[in-house]
Amino acid sequence: MLPKKYATTDNKERVRVEDTGLIKKEYVRKKRKLTYLGMPSGEMRDILAWKDYFEKCTAVEIDDQMRNQLMLNVINSGLNGKISILYGDIEKILIKGSDEFNNKLQFPYDVVFLDCFGTIVYRELQRVKAITSLIEKQKGSDFLLLLTFNIRERKYCDQSIGTVLNKIEKELLGYYLQDDKAKLKINKIMGWYKADKTEEMYRQKIFGSYFIKTMAEERGFKVHVYPPIFYLGFKGSPMIHFAFKLMSGTESPTKEVSDQTIFNIINLNIKEVSNGRVFVRKQQAPTVGM
Ligand SMILES: C[S@@+](CC[C@H](N)C(=O)[O-])C[C@H]1O[C@@H](n2cnc3c(N)ncnc32)[C@H](O)[C@@H]1O
Repeated sequence: MLPKKYATTDNKERVRVEDTGLIKKEYVRKKRKLTYLGMPSGEMRDILAWKDYFEKCTAVEIDDQMRNQLMLNVINSGLNGKISILYGDIEKILIKGSDEFNNKLQFPYDVVFLDCFGTIVYRELQRVKAITSLIEKQKGSDFLLLLTFNIRERKYCDQSIGTVLNKIEKELLGYYLQDDKAKLKINKIMGWYKADKTEEMYRQKIFGSYFIKTMAEERGFKVHVYPPIFYLGFKGSPMIHFAFKLMSGTESPTKEVSDQTIFNIINLNIKEVSNGRVFVRKQQAPTVGM
């Protein structure tokens, strides 16, 4: 019996059902089986749940025991021809394009699921750089990007998130240069996001969505942000799960412009999964107008 470094939960399984709907849509839209890149852990529940939609999978694992379990499960499930395993740190692998044994990532992927320990801003900006590198390597190919983060460690990312919240505020204020009343309202709302007592999920909602939207638009993608999902995961850890659809735009000298505006993404309602149910949370952040 392996020590429990990670175990799934009912809430996590319910989130997976939500993602299954998105993956199925992609499978129908592309009229073919999809390729997947992710960190499915030893039990490879992602791959088992979605195997009917997948043609090829790349599974990345850093932990030795998990890796051994994964290799065994790949063989036992008869999926050896379908799954390649890369060893090491996903962030380094995304940046370099290969693992320490020179096994290469097979870009482009249709579905990428980064199911991470820690928050989005982790180990300085290593995770942010890795996700940016992934988006660059996917250039020209539509894909579904699924991201899960643990949001318990607020202090990890306080400064970076604060900087980005200031940028969001500046951008919003730019729409209301002649309207002092609207500017005051924006200052108040962004003050709410920055306040210590505001729950981390709300800050992460706008940080994560804004980060992917701006990074991907600059790299030639239109982005659709689905409502983020909050849930309590393994050992009761507060988690946030994002799903983004990145659609390749036409070749252009300037950035892409998504259909969802900055106002739309800030105003997205957070969903919650609890006791096997998914629902829109009653409590939400204040909305910004336009
Ligand atoms: C949260 S679990 C994945 C669970 C899986 N997606 C599921 O839904 O059942 C994360 C897995 O990624 C591995 N992992 C964590 N950090 C990693 C990293 N930086 N690089 C590669 N693998 C990592 C962990 O050992 C673990 O097996």
